This record gives sequence, structure tokens and C-alpha cells, in this order.
Amino acid sequence: MEFQVLVATSDHHKYAEEICELMELSAKARGTGIAKRSPDYIKNKMTEGKAIIAINEMGVFGGFCYIESWGEKFAANSGLIVAEEFRKMGLAMRVKRKAFELSRQKFPNAKLFGLTTSLAVMKINSELGYRPVTFSELTDDEHFWKGCQSCVNYDILTRTNRKHCLCTGMLYDPVEKYKHNRKTFKEYKGNYAKWLKEKRDLLLEKFKKVNVLFNIF
Ligand SMILES: CC(C)(COP(=O)(O)OP(=O)(O)OC[C@H]1O[C@@H](n2cnc3c(N)ncnc32)[C@H](O)[C@@H]1OP(=O)(O)O)[C@@H](O)C(=O)NCCC(=O)NCCS
Repeated sequence: MEFQVLVATSDHHKYAEEICELMELSAKARGTGIAKRSPDYIKNKMTEGKAIIAINEMGVFGGFCYIESWGEKFAANSGLIVAEEFRKMGLAMRVKRKAFELSRQKFPNAKLFGLTTSLAVMKINSELGYRPVTFSELTDDEHFWKGCQSCVNYDILTRTNRKHCLCTGMLYDPVEKYKHNRKTFKEYKGNYAKWLKEKRDLLLEKFKKVNVLFNIF
């Protein structure tokens, strides 16, 4: 089944409920929280021309992603989701690439960034020229960070003064791309799984110990 990857319009509003349900189900399955999006929020992104959708010739939904922006300086491609039966076929890569191109067109001077615990997303971002960064290089817009409040790991973020969490920050800098060879970032790909595991072990272990101490005293 061939999927078309398109800039969504109001014609796609009928998929908004399904997209929200999928996002919620997949967050539960991963044991994380997510910045909750309502169907109205998704519809609005479609109407504004700030969303990408994958639909096949039967009208079956395949994947979705939308653009968030903070002034002209920062933008993010958020809410990436692929329907379970169509995963591992390269659809997320196609959706994210299209979202990336749309973001570059709409916000040519913005740094594009994301926070993720997903190995697949880290690989996709690297292909697009993102690199892993510390949280201090991301936006300091409170509205963005508020989105983390619904995550089960939010206490880790607050206890580290927003320096560390299980998510890894990744950034595409339109100016910097001239300074670096994109291949360098692609070469990280093989190390991401190890990096995510070590980070999880370290942060969760550390906070388990802190919790034990809190419980004793
Ligand atoms: C993450 C998700 C969008 C990936 O979709 P997908 O269509 O299966 O991804 P693709 O087939 O385009 O794969 C892209 C890359 O990720 C890799 N990949 C895909 N799923 C993976 C997984 N579960 N674990 C590790 N790597 C994975 C692929 O091998 C590919 O890497 P390669 O280019 O080196 O071959 C999909 O699994 C999903 O919707 N998950 C639930 C929602 C979610 O986690 N969203 C991300 C929130 S930050």
C-alpha cells in the first residue's frame, strides 16, 4: 500500500480524533507521559498548513507530525506518530523529512529542535542533520517546557534544574550546517541505543537512591 505524504489541510480534520487516540495509546505503551493534544489542536495545525499527514489510496491513515514555533528563532517538529501496522517501513522518515522541509520553508532562520527518548527519532533526526545538544542550547520558552509537566519523568527534569532528563535534546542549526559535515552526525547513529540505556540507568538509579533517602528521613 503506497502512502502519500502531504501537507495536511482542513480536508484531513476527520483524522484528528484517530491521531490523538494513537498518540495517547503509544505514550501509555512506552510508559511516558506526553504533552496532551486535543483533536481541536490537531485540526488547527492542519488548517494553518503546519502539519504533515500520510494517507494511502484507500484513505487509511499512516502517519502524522506537526510544526510548533517560538517566534522566528525556534521551531520543532512534534507529535510524530506512525500507525502500528505501518511501522518499520520508512514512513516516519518520510513524514519527518517533509515536516523538516516545510519548517525550513516557513521558518528559514529558525533553529529546529526536539526532545526525545526514541531511538528511531534520534536516527531520523541525525539523517536530517540534527545533532545531540545540552538542554541549555534549546529554547528557554516556558511554554515549551510546560509541555514536559505531563511526563512521568518530570521530577527528574525539575530536580536537575532542567539540565538532564531521560530525553535527549537534538538541534538543527541552519547556520551551523555550513560549518559541519552532516555525515559526522549520521555516524553517531550506532551509539544512540547505548547512550539511551546508560542515561536511563544513571538517572533512574540516581533518583531511586534519592527517594530512598527521602523516605528514611
Ligand atoms: C517512532 C516511530 C514514529 C517510528 O516510525 P517508523 O515508521 O517505524 O520509523 P522508520 O521506519 O521511518 O524508521 C526510521 C529509523 O528508525 C529505526 N527504527 C524504527 N523503529 C525503531 C525502534 N523501535 N527501535 C529502534 N530503531 C527503530 C529504523 O530502523 C530506521 O533507522 P535506519 O534509517 O537506520 O534504518 C513509530 O515507532 C511510532 O509512531 N512510535 C510511537 C510514537 C513515538 O514514539 N513517537 C516519537 C515521540 S518523540
